[in-house]
Amino acid sequence: MQIAERLTKIPPYLFMELRKKIAKAKADGIDVISLAIGDPVEPTPVGVIDELCKTAYDPENHRYPTDEEKGMLAFREEVARWYEQRYGVKLDPANEVLGLIGSKEGCHHFILARVNPGEIVLMTDPGYPAYRASILMGGGEPYSMPIMPENGYLPIFEDIPKDVVKKATAMFLNYPNNPTGACANKDFFRKAVDFAKKNDIAICYDNPYSEVVFEGQERLSILSVDGAKEVAVELNSLSKPYNMTGWRIGMALGNPDLVAGISKVKENTDSGIFNAVQFAGIHALRSETSNIENMLKIYKARRDLVLGTLKKIGIDFNPPKGTFYLWVPTPKGMNSIDFTGRLFEKTAVVVAAGTAYGKYGEGFIRISLTVPDARLKEAMARIEREFA
Ligand SMILES: Cc1ncc(COP(=O)(O)O)c(C=O)c1O
Repeated sequence: MQIAERLTKIPPYLFMELRKKIAKAKADGIDVISLAIGDPVEPTPVGVIDELCKTAYDPENHRYPTDEEKGMLAFREEVARWYEQRYGVKLDPANEVLGLIGSKEGCHHFILARVNPGEIVLMTDPGYPAYRASILMGGGEPYSMPIMPENGYLPIFEDIPKDVVKKATAMFLNYPNNPTGACANKDFFRKAVDFAKKNDIAICYDNPYSEVVFEGQERLSILSVDGAKEVAVELNSLSKPYNMTGWRIGMALGNPDLVAGISKVKENTDSGIFNAVQFAGIHALRSETSNIENMLKIYKARRDLVLGTLKKIGIDFNPPKGTFYLWVPTPKGMNSIDFTGRLFEKTAVVVAAGTAYGKYGEGFIRISLTVPDARLKEAMARIEREFA
């Protein structure tokens, strides 16, 4: 059967390839440790599970989600409260908040809501691979803005050619950044908003790591700067702060036209989030802040452990302060693929090659800290044995 052309443009999803590689090695009896995927292993807080179980019994919740175009009002109100409390951003739950099946879904639907075929969408390189896929599926043309360590992994808008800017109608930004861990600040937000306003570009600010920050880094929303709501929709998610990746619940916030556009796509695609999951989400946002604090302690300890090992093997660097990833320079003379291959061959530890996130990812690997402590210790011990 012939598959649609739009799919042939999309490279295989990075983690599919990785999963295959891991599965093969495991089938060969090798004890593989994967530090490649960012998916918290600690369970969802029990209070969230209890709320799901309780509300799942109510037949009212077995029907299509109420107020389905934007997700339950109660969930949207709770999101608005959370945004005000965590980021000082005021949102109108009626038209500036929308429930999503994760922020990944929001990225895809943002493109369908905003971008016409042939229009350019700006994204960073390195960057989260799903942006490119969403742009291509929506008929847009991705344009990569390089992000380099010397600029704090932030794009330089002035470097984008004028004809590209002219054809661009949308832009993805994501800080705390996957894969680099870099964080942005309000000055950068102002620059991005000015650039977007001047050039009629809609910003999709993908912010699922907003709570995963270390060493005094401030938690931030682009919506906290003046004028952002005129040009930006922000996406966030319960996946990372509450260990809920499998539950599929997130939110889109900000510009009412973009929120309404994404909502229209959703109305015609899915019928929203299972009500019981939304009730569980409300509970998480309202009552599980301690989970965020516990997870930050866990990630911090793992970060220190990995940085210690890297130092012992001669890789000494000052990592950015966000996400549960470490974006690690490869040893001199080794490219990303060589280094990941060598690590795997010598230690059966899998990490992601930087080039999986774009050509400017060359010279880096990404290590994810979402592995049980004991496995991470074992991985680091193997690396020290082989390379120190
Ligand atoms: C930058 C970025 N955006 C979105 C997502 C997807 O998040 P969600 O689980 O909310 O769909 C991820 C997941 O790894 C991510 O790294």
